Amino acid sequence: MLILNEKKIRKGKPIGLPYQGSKKKISKKIVEIIKQNFGTDKPIYDILGGGGAITAECILNGLEVHYNDLDKGITDAFERVISQDHEWIKTLIVSRDEFFEIKAKENKTTDDFLKLLINSFGNNKKDYLYSKEISDLKYKLAKEIIKNHDVFSGYKQTETYKKVISESEWDWFNKKQGKVKVLQQIQQLEQIQQLEQLNKVKATNKSYHDFSKVSGAILYLDPPYEETNQKSYINSFNSQEFYDWAFEMAKKNIVIISSYSISDKRFGAVYSFDKARSTLESGISSKGKNEKLFMVKY
Ligand SMILES: C[S@@+](CC[C@H](N)C(=O)[O-])C[C@H]1O[C@@H](n2cnc3c(N)ncnc32)[C@H](O)[C@@H]1O
Repeated sequence: MLILNEKKIRKGKPIGLPYQGSKKKISKKIVEIIKQNFGTDKPIYDILGGGGAITAECILNGLEVHYNDLDKGITDAFERVISQDHEWIKTLIVSRDEFFEIKAKENKTTDDFLKLLINSFGNNKKDYLYSKEISDLKYKLAKEIIKNHDVFSGYKQTETYKKVISESEWDWFNKKQGKVKVLQQIQQLEQIQQLEQLNKVKATNKSYHDFSKVSGAILYLDPPYEETNQKSYINSFNSQEFYDWAFEMAKKNIVIISSYSISDKRFGAVYSFDKARSTLESGISSKGKNEKLFMVKY
């Protein structure tokens, strides 16, 4: 089992693009686990890097990291956020109609990719963030707030929010549906932008197979979950082929895989991120459903 002294975890917010399967919630812990168990002198390869949560955390910890994802859309999005400014972020909020127009476009720009990402439900780039009946109100509210206020954080305290909400006939909206989710998403982009250290992030877009020659490094691998709807990401993913490759790579590297479970018995869990609170609240044991780290068993 790997150890984690939680006292050493970096203070401050976790960073990363909103993205399906993002490790943002546990990225600070993951990088601290790597540091405490394997030191800080080996380069880290974030080969299925997605929205960059692990890469960003490595950089904030001063570690050497290689950011890669087969999908150029997502790494371009990360680089674009870093290179643009605050005003540009505001242009990414789109209405329901615009969303479906962009979705139908054949050739999408990086801005289109980002618009689909942050305005979609669960960041799936397919379904609009809000149900049809509240789309208009939420979109207008978000637009009003960013027009009148420069900070996206604490938007519920803004006069605009309070005014629109109080004028709204939608009583239930205020009580139950008060979140303006898209503002939370663009806050995450803002956080990426504010960190100058991230300017040096340069991504590659290879398939994991192309890293076969790497040795003496730490490979952090976050593959699509075995049971994931294969359409979630850029390609269909062959989990067994991936495990065979990871097993080979572990002969000359430290290989760490993120998953809930791995069917290949050559790998065993070495750390489990407990969701103690949710277990207590629901009264149902979340056993087996925790995010874990896996390594080759010896
Ligand atoms: C679970 S996500 C990674 C999430 C990421 N750790 C984060 O925090 O945002 C899996 C990623 O694997 C990528 N991927 C799928 N097949 C790949 C391949 N053959 N080589 C490299 N990346 C691949 C997908 O594009 C997707 O971004």
